[in-house]
Amino acid sequence: MIFGMILAGGTGSRMGSKDKPKQYLTLGDKPVIIHTIEKFFLYSEFKKIIVLCPKDWVQYTDKIIRDNLKDEEYDSIVILSGGSTRNETIMNGIDYIESEYGVDEDTIIVTHDAARPFINERIIKENVEYTKKYGAATTAVGATDTILVAGKELSVNEIPDRKYMYQCQTPQTFFAKQLKEMYGSLSEKEKETLTDASKILLLNGQKIAIVNGERFNIKLTYPEDMIIAGALLESGIV
Ligand code: CTP
Repeated sequence: MIFGMILAGGTGSRMGSKDKPKQYLTLGDKPVIIHTIEKFFLYSEFKKIIVLCPKDWVQYTDKIIRDNLKDEEYDSIVILSGGSTRNETIMNGIDYIESEYGVDEDTIIVTHDAARPFINERIIKENVEYTKKYGAATTAVGATDTILVAGKELSVNEIPDRKYMYQCQTPQTFFAKQLKEMYGSLSEKEKETLTDASKILLLNGQKIAIVNGERFNIKLTYPEDMIIAGALLESGIV
């Protein structure tokens, strides 16, 4: 079974929106998270789409999903509370799958930032294909800027060859059982340093295939990203 997991459990502090987290801001004619969920409907293999949001926003999320989507679409979604970190949010999603469906060796989760509304079907499809073939997948695009590695003193430590530098996007796709087991094997200290779910697997020596993302698959992080997203939407590129 394949599950979609839309991660909306964050508060969007860098966006600086006072009244609601960024995933609920209006983009074009609907909230960001609705755009993201709609893109997940382009892929028909999901058993269920699990939307994980902050605890206090579950009711609100339920309402906007009900208001913006068709009844049959609403029925294929479940809305749950996220966790204190992005990885804990993913674990809450896996716990739900375990309790409702059971998790076996073949259970796949396609995890995606709610704040990336311009995902497309090709990227989702390739995530699933690569996960079946290689064991896990992450989406990334080749770095356009040269990347430097800074030292503690904010001086340049290293400038790696740009052709090997990629910027991570989502989805990231995993076998649920393996991800949960590997996450459980990490110390609290290791868990704290993780900004990325793929790193859980990397620390455990699991291969992760790279799916080519799209430059327009941007994550809405800062206020100016909303302006760029609005322009992308209007242009018809996304
Ligand atoms: N996320 C989540 N659960 C958390 C933290 C983050 O599901 N405990 C989700 C966010 O809602 C977002 C995605 O992970 O869709 C990417 O995270 P990020 O852009 O860092 O979002 P926020 O944590 O909300 O933003 P900020 O870091 O600016 O507070």
